[in-house]
Amino acid sequence: MNPASLIPTADALTAHWGWFQFLLMLTFPLHLLAMNAMLGTALTAFICHLRPERPYQDLSHELAKALPFLVAFTINLGVAPLLFVNVLYGHLLYTSTVLMGLFWLAVIPILIIAYYLAYAYDFSFKKMGYSAMYAVLIVLLLLMSVGFIFSNNMTMMISPASWPRWFATPGGTLLNLADPTLLIRYLHMMTGSLAVGGLCVAFYSSTVLKHNIAVAEAGKTLGMQLFTWLTALQVLLGTWFLMTLPTAVMKRFMGNDMLATGLLMAGIFLAVATLMLGFQRKVIATLWLTIPLVYVMSFMRDSVRTGYLAPYFDMTKVPANMQWSPLIFFLVVLVMGIVVVVWMLSKLRYIKKVS
Ligand code: HEM
Repeated sequence: MNPASLIPTADALTAHWGWFQFLLMLTFPLHLLAMNAMLGTALTAFICHLRPERPYQDLSHELAKALPFLVAFTINLGVAPLLFVNVLYGHLLYTSTVLMGLFWLAVIPILIIAYYLAYAYDFSFKKMGYSAMYAVLIVLLLLMSVGFIFSNNMTMMISPASWPRWFATPGGTLLNLADPTLLIRYLHMMTGSLAVGGLCVAFYSSTVLKHNIAVAEAGKTLGMQLFTWLTALQVLLGTWFLMTLPTAVMKRFMGNDMLATGLLMAGIFLAVATLMLGFQRKVIATLWLTIPLVYVMSFMRDSVRTGYLAPYFDMTKVPANMQWSPLIFFLVVLVMGIVVVVWMLSKLRYIKKVS
């Protein structure tokens, strides 16, 4: 069967594709940054439970207070890219979502349980005693399983050749496990996330928690250790991931596409620079370079998607019927939303200072 015959026709766009692509590439790395902070916080809190020293115990309690906020930010910052990716790739994403429907729907109960447990970990930290360690470990594993479901969907939507499996297995139980890139892609995502998450913990410890010197130092040490060692590992995993890509896609980064090649160069440069700063424990400078690094990696991931879909779909050819009013309305609401979030965060900082 020709997989191209299974791809539904793309709907016409309500604005030039560049708008949606711009908004997708603006918002998706924000989701990633929040997700990284969330996973890194959960992992660091878990490691703290394994250390008997007082500052590590106190640090895990501080991180427990931050975790529910980070879960909320990750989920909410996922909504915007979900909308834009649906607008641009809806005909592909809806199809792969149906193929793995059971797992996709499972994301909601998994998140509810993880969120509930994250709150229990925060509010009942002292009461839980030793079992708090298991609570945060379960939160971490549940959240990472959500990432695995996303990786499956994101790889299946760009591989229509895997779709005919549905005729033999129509129950919505398909995953993309036979794809040789899936596991290494997921490993690359999770290692990078936990590394950046460690950096976020170091930043949080050396700014918000700085009044308690021992706790701040414990957070900075643990966070920067996670960041540097996992980033070093990431250099190997990233190279491995590149090598597993289909040749045509890999060659985009080897000179066949100047933009993709430039992104790879920029990514390598930023990774080495962040590593050097990280080993010197320069938290703020490392963070300033890591944010563009996450953006560069997101653009590279998007280039991989374009490469995979080249035989099937070109978003620049989708017809657009320009409708200004929804776009303007969206942009106004977006700016208002950002103002409200910044205001809420400033209030939170104030509450923390007073308490
Ligand atoms: C809270 C747990 C979550 C984790 C750990 C997580 C993690 C991830 C990871 C690892 C990816 C990249 C997958 C890949 O390309 O291989 C991803 C992509 C994505 N996530 Fe999340 N996610 C979470 C929740 C959500 C939620 C609740 C939403 C939506 C409301 C969401 C929206 C998205 C979207 C739209 C993408 C793909 C964007 C694109 O392809 O351009 N995520 N997520």
